[in-house]
Amino acid sequence: MIQTPKFSRITGTGSALPGAPIGNAELIAARGLDSSDEWIVERTGIRSRHLAAPGVTASELALPACRHALEAAGRTPADVDLVIVATSTPDYVFPSTAALLQAKLGIANGAAAFDLQAVCSGFVYALSVAEKFIRSGSHRCALIVGSEVFSRILDWSDRGTCVLFGDGAGAVVLEASDEPGILATALHADGSHHGMLSVPGQVGGGQVTGDPFLRMDGQAVFKFAVKVLADVANEVLETAGVSVDQLDWLIPHQANVRILSATAKKLHVPAGKCIVSVDRHGNTSAASIPLALDEAVRQGTIKRGETVLLEGVGGGFTWGAALLKF
Ligand code: UT7
Repeated sequence: MIQTPKFSRITGTGSALPGAPIGNAELIAARGLDSSDEWIVERTGIRSRHLAAPGVTASELALPACRHALEAAGRTPADVDLVIVATSTPDYVFPSTAALLQAKLGIANGAAAFDLQAVCSGFVYALSVAEKFIRSGSHRCALIVGSEVFSRILDWSDRGTCVLFGDGAGAVVLEASDEPGILATALHADGSHHGMLSVPGQVGGGQVTGDPFLRMDGQAVFKFAVKVLADVANEVLETAGVSVDQLDWLIPHQANVRILSATAKKLHVPAGKCIVSVDRHGNTSAASIPLALDEAVRQGTIKRGETVLLEGVGGGFTWGAALLKF
């Protein structure tokens, strides 16, 4: 008989960043950009980011993040029965980055592995999907990863986008549990806004057709992000019967300090409860939330038993949230 657990709970976190941080001034000089540290800090709050060396892939960044998460959970690769990688910058068209990562980790038990594409909402989507797998009783121990090498899809002649993003990976182990973990999740999409943020290219006939670089209407994204991040946060709080005051930490997708502040303000969450890592990581898309979470856990900021709200928004448009007891 299938044992259906009451809850799923994060039992370990991990993350990885490639190389040394690259400050705004260094990036501007290296890429010959018509920009300034002052502009970037004032409009985005970003001071530095990490960029992967040529040839470094999403599965390679994910590997140490997963090892750290497994170690923190007291698990080995053999315990894992589900691997989900949220990425928009996969190693290949196929096989999936999750399958490549599964092999790199040495998971040889036939665990399910697949990629999930929801751009910057990818990690929240993946966490929500894994939670449903675990609570159905079909799986017990999932590795959920956000891993990105956005530097590969940046147009370095477009100063409006290339200064915003960074590379990195974050992972969590999610396990069946009798103790409350994930309290509520909500996922949404509206594909009619697909043109607001996209990489409108494709591989076909032996070449890339269309545009292989990230294109964005920054101001439209900004307004949309603040609205849906506030809406979806309220949605999961209401579903779980948790008040804003009971929230210990808010981790929104790390895109721009101004988006984080506006979202926290709209939700009446004190700025001190909002975890910020975009200043040091830039926007790492699907990796941004697990990276921020892992950093805050390892620094002792987020502690066991605290109530944490994770929320993402990104291309598609997609958005979603997960409320949890850590
Ligand atoms: O995961 C979701 C991904 N995306 C986002 O979260 C992005 C959301 N949007 C934003 O964060 C902001 O809209 C940006 C940071 C992208 C832009 O900030 P803004 O305050 O909306 O600036 P803007 O686009 O209105 O541009 C203002 C000026 C323009 O010059 P003019 O036309 O006023 O002369 C731009 O050309 O700033 C110029 N500009 C820059 N100047 C120096 C744009 N990029 C740069 C730059 N350095 N890197």
